[in-house]
Amino acid sequence: MNQVFNNDISIIHLDEIPSTNDYLSQLCRQENVPEFQVVTAMSQTAGKGQRGNSWESEKGKNLLFSLVLHPTFIEAKEQFYLSMLIAICVSELLEQYTEDICIKWPNDIYWKDNKIAGILIENELIGKDIAQCIVGIGLNINQEAFHSSAPNPISLRQISGKETDLDLILQDLLNRITNYYNELKRSPKEFKQTLSDIYLDKLYRHTGYHAYQDNNEIFTARFHHLLPDGHLCLEDEQGNVRTYAFKEVNYILS
Ligand code: BTN
Repeated sequence: MNQVFNNDISIIHLDEIPSTNDYLSQLCRQENVPEFQVVTAMSQTAGKGQRGNSWESEKGKNLLFSLVLHPTFIEAKEQFYLSMLIAICVSELLEQYTEDICIKWPNDIYWKDNKIAGILIENELIGKDIAQCIVGIGLNINQEAFHSSAPNPISLRQISGKETDLDLILQDLLNRITNYYNELKRSPKEFKQTLSDIYLDKLYRHTGYHAYQDNNEIFTARFHHLLPDGHLCLEDEQGNVRTYAFKEVNYILS
């Protein structure tokens, strides 16, 4: 284990572990871990994705890390703002390297119709509060081919043809996250509105009719609005507004 301190952020760099999210939450159970503690890994043997999926990453090629937050100024019912904040930071980082980056609801980062980064946020709630928030981020940077059954992964290398320094990416991303997070902490009311505005501006399939699938059927709809708790509201071709929680609707990708 190698521990480095940079910009007051403590980073634990590890070689191979099952999952950086699991490592960090285990550490939080064992000791008092400061906010923004970061854990990175060169590879994960059981990297976790959303919906119980696994996360593929070739050793040393991509950025895999988790950090812990204690967002006492945000109520549990507002946890989607944290998700927006992280997704915005990851997309703004990637926008420095390529065009066509957007956020696919709720927090996948896409380049065109391909997934370039994934975010797994695991919150521990106590009553109305978020006691602990483990943010796990996987960014596909230098991997040249993907082999898992994930439908549409892509890396920055595949888009730009260039190798990118993982440490630079990590430092840049941590700076963005701390800046945005501190701003949210300083003026939660105003900054929540700013986050919603930026998020909507970057939303994948924000305009036009597209194909979706829910538990009942495949249908065509357009984005209508987002509720503060993160529910997605789509308007179908008959003018009905359908409201979905995460996992209740899938985008049909072309
Ligand atoms: C997704 O399915 O989109 C979320 C993927 C999140 C992957 C990252 S990699 C670092 C961290 N550790 C994990 O086990 N998962 C997250």
